[in-house]
Amino acid sequence: MPKLTERPIWRSLAAHWRARDAHLRNLFGTNPQRGEKYALEAAGWYLDYSKQRVDEETLRLLLQLAEDAGVAARRDAMWRGEKINVTEKRAVLHIALRAPKDQRIEVDGEDVVPGVNEVLERMAAFATRVREGEWKGHTGKRIRHVVNIGIGGSDLGPVMAHEALRAFAQRNLDCRFVSNVDGADFFEATRDLKPEETLFIVASKTFTTQETMANARAARAWALAKLEDEAAVAKHFVAVSTNAEKVAEFGIDTANMFGFWDWVGGRYSMDSAIGLSTMLAIGPDHFRAMLAGFHEMDEHFRTAPFAQNMPVLMALIGLWNTNFLGAATQAVLPYANYLKRFPAYLQQLTMESNGKSVTLEGARVDHDTSAVWWGEPGTNGQHSFYQLIHQGTRLIPCDFIGFVEPLSPLHEQHDLLMANLFAQSEALAFGKTAEQVRAEGTPEWLVPHRVFDGNRPSNTLLAQALTPHSLGALIALYEHITFVQGAIWDIDSFDQWGVELGKQLAQNIGKEIAAADDSGLAHDSSTNALIRRYRANRGGEKP
Ligand code: F6P
Repeated sequence: MPKLTERPIWRSLAAHWRARDAHLRNLFGTNPQRGEKYALEAAGWYLDYSKQRVDEETLRLLLQLAEDAGVAARRDAMWRGEKINVTEKRAVLHIALRAPKDQRIEVDGEDVVPGVNEVLERMAAFATRVREGEWKGHTGKRIRHVVNIGIGGSDLGPVMAHEALRAFAQRNLDCRFVSNVDGADFFEATRDLKPEETLFIVASKTFTTQETMANARAARAWALAKLEDEAAVAKHFVAVSTNAEKVAEFGIDTANMFGFWDWVGGRYSMDSAIGLSTMLAIGPDHFRAMLAGFHEMDEHFRTAPFAQNMPVLMALIGLWNTNFLGAATQAVLPYANYLKRFPAYLQQLTMESNGKSVTLEGARVDHDTSAVWWGEPGTNGQHSFYQLIHQGTRLIPCDFIGFVEPLSPLHEQHDLLMANLFAQSEALAFGKTAEQVRAEGTPEWLVPHRVFDGNRPSNTLLAQALTPHSLGALIALYEHITFVQGAIWDIDSFDQWGVELGKQLAQNIGKEIAAADDSGLAHDSSTNALIRRYRANRGGEKP
């Protein structure tokens, strides 16, 4: 197979890009129905992609690219449980986590759906006992605080879902999250808590992650300092992991462990047992509703023709922006304060998945892969970085996300919020010409400063309300966008070798910091000098 950039379809796309110079003003001018035409619905979400710099021919070529790249075959291979994570030789089956009980999904000839449901039922029974005060702490007190200890995929999804679904949470059960190995994170999360009322969830797929293990040890010491009995661990610690041996070694009874499987990647795991904190907060029924939302989007992705397939279209347009229009980043701008951690969650999903530079065969790619994903909730971002999006020199495609109904009783403020969302995408697309600025009576010297070029692309995603169901569908949408882009770029979206080197070096440097003297340091001169300076000036116990 020739390199992606040498294939006829890629060349056609490049030629098409060079041949056309269509401003969104013209695209809308020549096609007044564009706003209704370039839109579709799936799993409760409405997507308007009319403000993207694409026309019929662009879409035709992009859809052809998806066909030529074998996206459908790769998607079907995922559903069949084939080991599409080639570098780790693993199946990729997060879609099985939300499959209905009667669906059969196999890995190595074994149906995994019953196992998924068995864990879900155990989680539900446990969550119900804690939520109803039936699960008591070591001293017989009710659990009032849950602290999830985890990092990366064992933190970002649960944190995001906890924020997103606060309106559905049992308010007398307080959930907190500790991820950073910086002791300040653990200290601040627990300083006002009582160990006898606190339940720790140690969430780690591998149960070897340095940060999580350090925080879990700190938590055990903190709890036992007050409870003064090893037996208390069984009442105040549960684990979520694929590694029963390590869980037992840490001292957590494996009866209090909720498992998952190697075919669930960390960044694709928030709907597995890693979501235990979510289930504790919102309850099993809402958790099931979230899974149903995921599943509805999965089914849409699996069955809809590509021209009407939301994840496929969003992936293709994102790829068009990255590889042909030269956009280096992708902003995600939820007009919903509850989604304030959604961009952070998406960063791991998209960038740990598609931040790769070699193909499945190990050949270096000669095109860009993942954009840099980032974002903040609107309207806060408007008073911060939107200036650059509107008038800066860089092209920043934006995904606006909004809801028709608010979850707060302040309905008028919701109208204001949504008015801002609609205004931003309009301003980005159409801008303001020098003539329009002059017509407002602007003095000539000020005109260039007040001109908005426009032609800045965006998607708008709208759902009726932020609910467990719509959140699940939204997450699945971005999971599948990530999948499709990775399939076209022909990279392994499911490994993460790029995080290994830093981990190894940190382990070695940790030992060097603790060593008796620094004479053996063998790094480059910069790293050596930094370690020496730190060793010489740090407080606390010196070696
Ligand atoms: O950062 C690398 C990584 O392996 C992520 O992919 C993962 O989500 C995170 O570390 C946490 O891993 P674990 O759940 O095994 O502690």
